[in-house]
Amino acid sequence: MHSPVSPPSMPPPELRPTLPEWASVSPARIQHIQRVAELAARWAEQMGVPHSERNRWLRAVWLHDALRDAPPEELARWAATTPGPPALWHGPASAAHAKAQGEVDRGVLDAVRYHSVGLAEWDMVGRILYCADYLDPERPFEREARALLAQRLPTDVGGVLRDIARSRILHQIKSGWPILDPTVRFWNSLVATGSGSH
Ligand SMILES: [Fe+2]
Ligand SMILES: [Fe+2]
Repeated sequence: MHSPVSPPSMPPPELRPTLPEWASVSPARIQHIQRVAELAARWAEQMGVPHSERNRWLRAVWLHDALRDAPPEELARWAATTPGPPALWHGPASAAHAKAQGEVDRGVLDAVRYHSVGLAEWDMVGRILYCADYLDPERPFEREARALLAQRLPTDVGGVLRDIARSRILHQIKSGWPILDPTVRFWNSLVATGSGSH
């Protein structure tokens, strides 16, 4: 489908912007991020959102895993106050770095910062990123069910968001992992509104 990756190649115009210069990502990670961008761009198209909003979604997508493969010292430098295990530091670290580089959009920064845990106060950027990240078609589990969710999303963002949050939180519980406070508040906000689209 795609030509062999030669990172950091410029993505096609409809998926831009692109990775920030300071990104620290493996070639496989770039492919994941690009697939997430493809999903977000497709939904933006299907939902007819304005160019400016689509640009916010894609900015968050390209930032969300930008420090996913950064060395621990760099993560600690940008996310020194982040609670939880190091695997959860890359979102806060990337948001902090993006902010230091001039990103001022609160919705974009919150989408990136909380993409691993969820946030009750998210606007559409956070919701779209959370869904697109999980629905990357190359993730090895539940491919058919996740493809159906991706198809359904443009007409039912709230419902799909809630379904994904349920799956992710159940997985965390079954794995014996703690549920962090932002995740609990995120879940409660989704069930309290009935649709998660307030
Ligand atoms: Fe991530
Ligand atoms: Fe991701």
